[in-house]
Amino acid sequence: MAWNKRNRQLHRQLSIIFTTTVIVAFIGAALGLTETAMWLFYLPLPPLFLLMGTGLYMFAQPYRTKRRGARPNLAQ
Ligand code: HEM
Repeated sequence: MAWNKRNRQLHRQLSIIFTTTVIVAFIGAALGLTETAMWLFYLPLPPLFLLMGTGLYMFAQPYRTKRRGARPNLAQ
């Protein structure tokens, strides 16, 4: 179950990174930087993509344990 815990922790840390990149993109847009540096808008996409992967893993977890006939670990 250590992998589940790691995945949840990674998701939490990625959410902070993602939020920071969104704030950076907004500040960049407000300062007019995005007219020359369009890539600033794409900055949140890599962490968002990783969030999707780790999030979907967490979403599927209870169904996977149920199918295996094990009791779901509510403390994970
Ligand atoms: C992109 C697709 C995403 C999917 C599929 C997804 C899915 C999930 C799932 C299934 C959980 C577990 C909920 C539970 O405990 O039952 C979760 C928790 C969480 N998600 Fe996401 N999420 C996504 C994106 C995000 C984003 C964009 C943020 C914030 C910027 C975020 C922040 C969090 C946080 C802070 C938790 C709680 C983690 C913890 O328990 O420590 N997620 N997410």
